[in-house]
Amino acid sequence: MRRHGYRYSHLLKQPNGGAGGGVKGMFVKLAIAVIVLVICMLSLVTTLKSSTFSPSRSEINLETLWESSASGGWRPSSDPRSDWPPPPKKTNGYLRVRCNGGLNQQRSAICNAVLAARIMNATLVLPELDANSFWHDDSGFQGIYDVEHFIRTLRYDVNIVERIPEISKNGKTRKIKAFKLEPPRDAPISWYTSKALEKMKEHGAIYLTPFSHRLAEEIDNPEYQRLRCRVNYHALRFKPHIMELSKSIVDRLRARGHFMAIHLRFEMDMLAFAGCYDIFATKEQEILKEYRKVNFAKKKLVYEERRAIGKCPLTPEEVGLILRAMGFDNTTRIYIASGELFGGERYMAPFRSMFPRLENHTTVDNTGELAKSTRGLVGAAVDYMVCLLADIFMPTYDGPSNFANNLMGHRLYYGFRTTIWPDRKALTPVFIARENGRASGFDEAVRRVMLNTNFGGPHKRIRPESFYTNSWPECFCQTPAQNPADVCPPKNISEILESRLQGSEIIDDRSIPSYLASLTDK
Ligand SMILES: *[C@@H]1O[C@H](CO)[C@@H](O)[C@H](O)[C@H]1NC(C)=O
Ligand SMILES: *[C@@H]1O[C@H](CO)[C@@H](O)[C@H](O)[C@H]1NC(C)=O
Ligand SMILES: *[C@@H]1O[C@H](CO)[C@@H](O)[C@H](O)[C@H]1NC(C)=O
Ligand SMILES: *[C@@H]1O[C@H](CO)[C@@H](O)[C@H](O)[C@H]1NC(C)=O
Repeated sequence: MRRHGYRYSHLLKQPNGGAGGGVKGMFVKLAIAVIVLVICMLSLVTTLKSSTFSPSRSEINLETLWESSASGGWRPSSDPRSDWPPPPKKTNGYLRVRCNGGLNQQRSAICNAVLAARIMNATLVLPELDANSFWHDDSGFQGIYDVEHFIRTLRYDVNIVERIPEISKNGKTRKIKAFKLEPPRDAPISWYTSKALEKMKEHGAIYLTPFSHRLAEEIDNPEYQRLRCRVNYHALRFKPHIMELSKSIVDRLRARGHFMAIHLRFEMDMLAFAGCYDIFATKEQEILKEYRKVNFAKKKLVYEERRAIGKCPLTPEEVGLILRAMGFDNTTRIYIASGELFGGERYMAPFRSMFPRLENHTTVDNTGELAKSTRGLVGAAVDYMVCLLADIFMPTYDGPSNFANNLMGHRLYYGFRTTIWPDRKALTPVFIARENGRASGFDEAVRRVMLNTNFGGPHKRIRPESFYTNSWPECFCQTPAQNPADVCPPKNISEILESRLQGSEIIDDRSIPSYLASLTDK
């Protein structure tokens, strides 16, 4: 079954899209639109022919993999579908959070922080991002994300301030000191509306730290889940220079046809964390063990066991073998997103011999300019964007709110863009058989495993799959809808939200609740 071309061309189509002027003109338009479409994802208005949902496959058809998955009439949509009042005029207090972890763990923490503020009728203070220990990067929210866009996009949802304002009364100014609280892991909404709210009302502000995985992912309220999608896929936009860099990389790759992006998580920190040492030489094992000792909790890790449960990242060679078994040939262009690969060329060589057309953000650019500006978190952000826009994305290791998981969720939202998800647990016995000399039937066995995956099409979320990896169906709507809950919001939803916001009194972020003002008298 052919998959619909619900991808690039559809996403680019503006509501009043004009016709292009010649191939060159079209190309320029296409290039500009790459960035525009990310910026204006809200304008994602497409008409889709409905098709059979979840086609069952008996063979892998590469032609269709380069396209997006069949959508079954679904499109991304995270606008409210029921009554959604603007944020309250009077705040219950200020919510400060400190997001720990890397770029992607912080990303889902930010979504949780916005939702927590909404639930508590609180004013959100721009989330603080832990200085990243791996990248030695302390650029913070302002250094990575477009703050103005973030606040404006969420204006119908929460009030956001850059810092807690000082209270001034009788000529005296006073700082509100946020009360520190450590939320339980995956705390339920009730924790926020009871314990946290109580402390907020008492102190005027609370400070939640550490803040990662501190709000349950499964919440039985689709409007709350849609708010998370508005944060994740609309409000969180990288700063213009990051978007520019990503655009120039994607433009250059795209100029030579379609490409695949692989997040090759074959990096020292990952391998040390996973504890999958046995494939390495003694010296390399020592390096990994030392890194593990310094950075992670002690744990007995047995390679065979780790591998059997899918906890070892794929090696570059395994990635190559999977792709080749699926039918990709040596002309396939592959963008490698990753930091420094561990073990060097020795581990890359087998992959490179199967797929010589490898690119990364250094090779795409021959002036060396990109390399200079793609270090640290910015480098991770650029790779995020390139992987988001690639025709096919393949992760090699996925885990709770890591790069791969967030991207799979983002690509799903971005129009069911193809993801090749290697089911490591199911593939391990296939690899082991090959290592033991049983090479015949290998390709067929790989294909069988891969055919059990969904390639990035709409699919039911089954634990442990996370909401951040699969926001279907909450953040999608269907035309024609088979279920009333999936009906797309009215076309004038933004006017409706705007008129409600205007209708409520002018919001003064600095308005101090009465119980706060009384604190200054103490
Ligand atoms: C927040 O405000 C809404 C509407 O004003 C109200 O219904 C809700 O109970 C409030 N929640 C809290 C926790 O204050
Ligand atoms: C791909 O493999 C064929 C042989 O199967 C070879 O002739 C060709 O040069 C290879 N192409 C590249 C880009 O390595
Ligand atoms: C990019 O690829 C080149 C050539 O394969 C390699 O030398 C370089 O280290 C890679 N850069 C990064 C950042 O991985
Ligand atoms: C939105 O559209 C509906 C029906 O099409 C109309 O009744 C309503 O007044 C509109 N609301 C605004 C704020 O434009």
